[in-house]
Amino acid sequence: MPFKILEKEELATGVFKMVIEASDVAKAARAGQFVMVRTFADSERIPLTIADYDAKAGTVTMAVQALGKGTKELTKLIPDDSIADFVGPLGTPADVKKIGTVILVGGGVGIAPVYPQIRAYKEAGNRVISIIGARNEGLLMMEKEFAAESDEFYVTTDDGSKGHHGFVTDIVKQLLDKERAGEYDGPKIGRVVVIGPPILMKVATNMMAAYPDVEIIVSINSMMVDGTGMCGGCRVIVGGVPKFACVDGPEFDGRLVDFDTVMNRLMIYKKEEMDASKKYDE
Ligand code: FES
Repeated sequence: MPFKILEKEELATGVFKMVIEASDVAKAARAGQFVMVRTFADSERIPLTIADYDAKAGTVTMAVQALGKGTKELTKLIPDDSIADFVGPLGTPADVKKIGTVILVGGGVGIAPVYPQIRAYKEAGNRVISIIGARNEGLLMMEKEFAAESDEFYVTTDDGSKGHHGFVTDIVKQLLDKERAGEYDGPKIGRVVVIGPPILMKVATNMMAAYPDVEIIVSINSMMVDGTGMCGGCRVIVGGVPKFACVDGPEFDGRLVDFDTVMNRLMIYKKEEMDASKKYDE
């Protein structure tokens, strides 16, 4: 059954918001889950973390970065076009509960999937501080939406073109140090959630070694084929044992994740992906 594209908007350079009519997925979706998308019947499957959902309107929003052949094919479509398959929600929902203060961090294309977590953590009674970061201003997105929903909101860019000149982790550290110095008067910061490139999640997890009483949760978007635990393509090592990001995750305790394996596995088909993308552009 084809799924209609209702809206499309360029959120940041090369990153598109796409709103899809998919009432069953929208009804069941929870923050932290993902969908498996196939643009045409013979296209590759693309796992995309849900960026928003509206059960009443029957819509699911995703943010797609046009990087490889599959995502370029998908982001060429326009409203009223349809996509062949839209399967979900898949994965385990984020473990949202009352913590106190939660810091939500989105890096690059990881900004969009953080967004539904703001609402979920707020509904669970938390104070939410959100931080978004990108290489430059042109790659930032959803600032207005984040500012409107969060109790505190920060922006960082690697090149200083907007907000704090530096990394999202600088702000996390500042906030945690401020709390330790007794200068933060909100409820205790008990959890940091980071969604973004694996290297960012690894750096953030390493930094959190200095704050052992604060949880660090990461979202592993590994290579996926079926998205249902059958193929083993998304295997990651968590706590020394193999886990499937598609069913056991995508969220895991960052301190237990073997990030080097995650990054190595993402590189396995890099050449084939680049060749396919180049051929598609020609
Ligand atoms: Fe196949 Fe996870 S994508 S097992």
